Amino acid sequence: MSKRIGIIVGSLRENSFNQMIANTIPELLDSAQYELISIANLPLYNADLDLGDGPDTVKHYREAIQKTDGILIISPEYNSGIPGVLKNALDWASTPTKTAVLIHKPAGVIGATPGAKGTILSQQQIRQTLDATQSYVMPAQKLYISQITDKIDLTTQKLTDATTRKYVQRYVQTFLQWIDQVNLLKE
Ligand code: FNR
Repeated sequence: MSKRIGIIVGSLRENSFNQMIANTIPELLDSAQYELISIANLPLYNADLDLGDGPDTVKHYREAIQKTDGILIISPEYNSGIPGVLKNALDWASTPTKTAVLIHKPAGVIGATPGAKGTILSQQQIRQTLDATQSYVMPAQKLYISQITDKIDLTTQKLTDATTRKYVQRYVQTFLQWIDQVNLLKE
């Protein structure tokens, strides 16, 4: 059976470039199923709300992650770090402490920016957060996409640059193999 990959985009912006990368992945590699997991309606994390299953949006969000074989995070960088909305979403997926959906979940991280440095600092913080949640973050490959505005088509909302499309395809291919490695570890 093909693997089920949950994609979480760390930008809520309608014309998000990172969302455009997410939009392109299914056509780059059709050997997996992809599901966009929205973080737009999650409340701000508050332990007082985090009782039982928590609010409905949180419950559905956690269930969506639970059903995946791995999650792929595609995120911008804000002020040299992780966007607040993404940190909030990862915090919601990190509880309850012993049964959180991120525990032992394979995870990959991609990021794009119109700038020159490709979201390096943001990705470092995302990996650090995922590490704290006991996710299995793919260590071997990194993908920093710079000058993204030259590499997309605003009309189709897709990634068009041939080289970057190959990099993303290779990243996702390696991520599918990483899931197999993690599953061997779990046996
Ligand atoms: C940014 N941006 C940005 N870019 C970057 O490469 N490093 C950074 O530290 C920051 N900091 C930052 C802070 C804030 C508050 C905003 C709104 C933006 C620019 C950012 O990369 C750009 O807006 C992207 O287009 C955001 O990604 P999406 O929404 O297109 O996916």
